[in-house]
Amino acid sequence: MKSNILVIGGTGKTGRKVAKGLQDQGHNVRIGSRSADPAFDWQDPSNWATALDGMDKVYVTFQPDLAIPGALEAIEELVKQSKNAGIKKIVLLSGKGEKEAELCEQVIIHSGIDFTILRCSWFNQNFSESFFLDAILSGQIALPKPEALVPYVDTDDIAEMAIEVLNNDQHNDKLYQLTGPKGLTFPEVIKEIANRTQRDLEFIPISISEYIETLRQHQVPEDYIWLINYLFSNVLDAEGNNEISHDIEKVLGRKPKNFSQYVDETVSSGVWNPAT
Ligand SMILES: NC(=O)c1ccc[n+]([C@@H]2O[C@H](COP(=O)([O-])OP(=O)(O)OC[C@H]3O[C@@H](n4cnc5c(N)ncnc54)[C@H](OP(=O)(O)O)[C@@H]3O)[C@@H](O)[C@H]2O)c1
Repeated sequence: MKSNILVIGGTGKTGRKVAKGLQDQGHNVRIGSRSADPAFDWQDPSNWATALDGMDKVYVTFQPDLAIPGALEAIEELVKQSKNAGIKKIVLLSGKGEKEAELCEQVIIHSGIDFTILRCSWFNQNFSESFFLDAILSGQIALPKPEALVPYVDTDDIAEMAIEVLNNDQHNDKLYQLTGPKGLTFPEVIKEIANRTQRDLEFIPISISEYIETLRQHQVPEDYIWLINYLFSNVLDAEGNNEISHDIEKVLGRKPKNFSQYVDETVSSGVWNPAT
């Protein structure tokens, strides 16, 4: 059965793949983002009812992170407005190791609306579409916590999971943990990218305070610095955060993408080639 589905963050790392996959299946997809029409801005609840109007289901990616102050209230408001709009199912993209994100999950879980939670590890694509790309292009990657193991998950897998759970009620009221098949440290990640791009990439271990100082020197906004500090101090090596989950294989019947597959695909996209 075809549905009307609002994809919040529908031009982002997972959202654009979810939106494309659902459209290919014939669903009526509405993108929820500041640049969409109608616009959806997490900072302005007055425009949410228009975006929700006529929709059956919602894929929710919060910006910038469910851990930030105000996220809980925003998710509560979204649930309230979703009920008013008659939304039948919410799929929430959440983050592993984030206590504040778990509080947001609880709001969805107790909303009375059918739901699925996708609680994800850090994405592979942070190295090609986000935080770490500029450092890779510069050739020097200076980061704290070089020993932390992260089972990076691929946004292709997250999107396929989101599409599956949006389509099938057997996943209602479930929480899935999404990880890749293996934990990797930053030096291992950088070595792999260096080998495959045949570039000389140097990993430099630094303290969190040195990292924060560097971000300030680059005039990174303070709320973004707050988030980075939180992620490196509280999430990266949080207890249990490096555990491997088999939920992707359980649901999709195949193994999750490993980091080498992601690196191979990304090398051929050219995104890691420094400008000449
Ligand atoms: N990155 C990770 O490793 C990771 C891991 C686990 C969980 N998560 C969670 O995944 C979620 C998405 O993070 P992401 O890094 O992958 O971002 P993303 O989805 O790539 O973010 C970009 C998308 O968000 C939209 N957007 C930006 N600001 C917005 C606003 N104020 N209101 C509405 N839409 C807005 C953008 O469109 P417009 O510019 O048009 O608004 C775009 O569609 C976050 O909640 C994060 O905590 C991320």
